[in-house]
Amino acid sequence: MRFKKIEKYTYVEEKHMQYLEELKRFVADSKYLPKYHIYPKCGLMNDPNGLSYFNGEYNFFYQWFPFEPNHGMKHWGHCTSKDLSTWEDKEIALTPDMEYEKNGCYSGNSIEKDGLLYLFYTANYKTDNGKIPKQAVAVMDKEGNIKKHINNPVIDGAPSDMSGEIRDPFVFIKNDSYYMLLGAKSKKEKGALLLYTSKNLLNWDYRGEIYLPIDTGYMIECPGLIEVDGKDVIIFSPMGLKKEALRYQNQFATLYLVGKLDIENMKFDLEYMDEVDNGFDFYAPQAFYGKDNKPMMVSWFGCGEQVLPSDNEMWKHGLTMPHTLKLKEGRLCNFVSEELNDLFDDKNRFSSNTIKTKSNHYHIQFNMCKDNKNTWVIVGNDNDYWELSFDTIKNIIQVDRSNLKLKVDTLNGLKRCTEGLNKEEYKVDIYVDNSFVEIFINEGMKSFAFRCFNLSDKEHSIKFSHTNEGSINYCK
Ligand code: FRU
Repeated sequence: MRFKKIEKYTYVEEKHMQYLEELKRFVADSKYLPKYHIYPKCGLMNDPNGLSYFNGEYNFFYQWFPFEPNHGMKHWGHCTSKDLSTWEDKEIALTPDMEYEKNGCYSGNSIEKDGLLYLFYTANYKTDNGKIPKQAVAVMDKEGNIKKHINNPVIDGAPSDMSGEIRDPFVFIKNDSYYMLLGAKSKKEKGALLLYTSKNLLNWDYRGEIYLPIDTGYMIECPGLIEVDGKDVIIFSPMGLKKEALRYQNQFATLYLVGKLDIENMKFDLEYMDEVDNGFDFYAPQAFYGKDNKPMMVSWFGCGEQVLPSDNEMWKHGLTMPHTLKLKEGRLCNFVSEELNDLFDDKNRFSSNTIKTKSNHYHIQFNMCKDNKNTWVIVGNDNDYWELSFDTIKNIIQVDRSNLKLKVDTLNGLKRCTEGLNKEEYKVDIYVDNSFVEIFINEGMKSFAFRCFNLSDKEHSIKFSHTNEGSINYCK
């Protein structure tokens, strides 16, 4: 098909619809498509936005530039699901067609009030002298009609000590007051977490910066707060953290802080912190309360400005599966939500050191390490595979992509390591969905999300360092 060159800050109008339909048909033939991960039907998808369980169904929104697999004019895409496994695509939820959002509808979350879902977002507004930060709101009713509020932008401009880089509103309720977190870069070029309050979700007062007792880099993006097992957990994506041997290997990091948000004193009392995920492709996750108030999280399955083989097929990135959040031994665990089990057939047991898979969409489960100091599993085919290994002496868990033929994001390295959990035995769950891979160790005490573009894409051979027992479940 012939691709059109479309100017970066173009928003979707009726006249583009036919071209987008053609693009979607082209993408539908891509050899890298997942079956159970959300991905853009064309163009680029990044952060999950407005995640909610509203009116009996999950509403997921996401950053979307439909015309090209590049960062451009961001719209909010939208899909819904009753069960988290089958999804229905909806119309574009937010199109940046107003002057105050002339450079895109950027990220934000949502909150329900009086039977309506309030969608908060950053109205991206660039000038020759930098950005003017603007925060906006749209309201969705139970029929799914979405209207931007006439009071937009509901916050206009920056506090005096902040730069123009302020974005990604995250609104929550505590003791009958509404609060909004915003990620920011201060004039001193430090990452900052800002707090506003409101009684009605429309008029917002600035309270100040929340002190975080850690390095916040030069900018914070996509902050969020969620209560997990009685503790406050802040999840956010700081930019500019220095690489360490076992941490911050990606272009940008995502951290969680467990403790207590002390709003009165504008600080966070920290008990434990770590990276949320240890894989290559995980950034800007959003936490939210699912059905029955279950704490959950979904992340952008990507990071920064990567070049990927799917670019040639006119789509890029996707979202992680929905994860459930729990605390174990004081740490945040993120593990695939149980609803997704229904996607897979019954457990096919194996006891062997090699398995040939019947497809490239499966979930495999096994235990590692018991009685063996160093164990590994490789997934792929001869000369084209990735490896997960456990070194119980050095106490390190590693994912290695260096033996894949199609290498991506090589500037940030081909291996990711993290501290092990000092366990004798590890329970491993690997979800392979063609080019999307998610690994969970001990039900999410550690996780690795990463992309993998195996050349031999239909069948994989899985080899273990030792004979292993487990089960492999294929996506139905
Ligand atoms: C994070 C981010 C957000 C911003 C959005 C724009 O990936 O940069 O800070 O709102 O993406 O698409």
